Amino acid sequence: MKKQYNAPYIERNSTGTINKFAHKSVVTHQDKIAGARVSDLLKEFGSPLFVFSELSMRQAYRHLVQTMLMKYPNTEISWSYKTNYLGAVCSIYHQEGAKAEVVSGMEYEMAKKLGIKGTDIIFNGPGKRKHELLTAMQEGARIHIDHLDELYLIEQLADETDIIPDVAIRVNMDTGIYPLWTRFGFNYENGEAYRTIQRLFMGKKMKLKGLHAHIGTFVADASAYYWAAQKLLILAQRIVDDFGIAVEYIDLGGGFASKNPLHEQYTPGEFSTPSFDQYATAIGNAFNESSFVREHAPRLIMETGRVLVDEAGYLISTVLAKKNLPTGERAVILDAGVNTNITARWYKQKVTPTRAFPGTYLNTIFYGPLCMNIDVIRPAIPFPDLRYGDAVIISPVGAYNVTQWMQFIEYRPAVVLISETGKPELIRDREELCDVNHREFIPEHLRVL
Ligand SMILES: Cc1ncc(COP(=O)(O)O)c(C=O)c1O
Repeated sequence: MKKQYNAPYIERNSTGTINKFAHKSVVTHQDKIAGARVSDLLKEFGSPLFVFSELSMRQAYRHLVQTMLMKYPNTEISWSYKTNYLGAVCSIYHQEGAKAEVVSGMEYEMAKKLGIKGTDIIFNGPGKRKHELLTAMQEGARIHIDHLDELYLIEQLADETDIIPDVAIRVNMDTGIYPLWTRFGFNYENGEAYRTIQRLFMGKKMKLKGLHAHIGTFVADASAYYWAAQKLLILAQRIVDDFGIAVEYIDLGGGFASKNPLHEQYTPGEFSTPSFDQYATAIGNAFNESSFVREHAPRLIMETGRVLVDEAGYLISTVLAKKNLPTGERAVILDAGVNTNITARWYKQKVTPTRAFPGTYLNTIFYGPLCMNIDVIRPAIPFPDLRYGDAVIISPVGAYNVTQWMQFIEYRPAVVLISETGKPELIRDREELCDVNHREFIPEHLRVL
């Protein structure tokens, strides 16, 4: 095979101009993702393109599990579907041993389709419909009750079917994370959670198997998990004392932060985001101090999402145009906007050129292709002078994008998984017009053709 000629280049290097976070002020390029060449990926699958690294996902999972097990051996992970419910992505976590955590009937169906048994599904969410609850009860899923109307509905279904379902109560609480997430579940501090449990036992129609709290997402303070665990364990102890029943599990939800810095965050993610070890230590301390744990050794469940997948996801995007703004900044228009990468609204994602550039930097804003003022992928950063057709890598984008992406004026891009052997595998095809309008009908009298 003829060897490809690569022109030599000199890449600017920085000697001594590091900032106080030890970051270089030089933008270095990256032309591969998980061993696969960006140019080859674009040639085969088009632009924009989501790319996931199987190896990163597996490594993150194993690291999380090993760290948690060291602090508390009776730990179980349930993959949070809403974070990324691509079949291939969920299957990787299931292969690693994760069960499923779903928050809607649709996600429940997705988990079942991937071969997950009802008994291995945790059913969360504030909007479960009656038929969905019925299926979950028939299949032995663990239903996490969000509000009293749901509790009454489950009682009614239990009467109609003679099924005694396994349930948990979702609890909201003050853990020092503000604003408080009080809209889900029953409040701890004002006694609502306890009264609900009292009411549940009086009804005698379901088995209370667990207590659940999901205190927020991107919780960058590990100590919040100490307070959450402590409060649930105190409540569990009180249930034993008052009703003689020991719950089997304590579910601390998800919420661990990835290293993606928020827009308002000053310090880079690698300094401000707690490590797995810090989260696990906070939880482990609360468990090891608890009298309830000593006597009943409950299972600890984590419904982890973002921290397992965010950094495994990349978005390759191509420059469609450049222009100069009256503010003096350079604007680059990319072919992927917030329709594809909604988390750019919250995070200062990294934009990396895929080839080396000589010359000085321009203060560059990255826009998407939408005719919408909010379509900003990255507010101004010093960046080399890109050309039309150049590709950039935007990262991390693995969490909450391929579930929250919008069908707005553009087709959704393809998604590729780089397998552990370095082989790119298409895991979701690029959309076409038929994907967008195949559920539409045009009444006869409106037909133009
Ligand atoms: C109930 C529940 N569990 C788990 C998660 C996963 O959270 P994260 O992706 O922050 O780990 C969420 C997401 O908000 C959730 O609502």
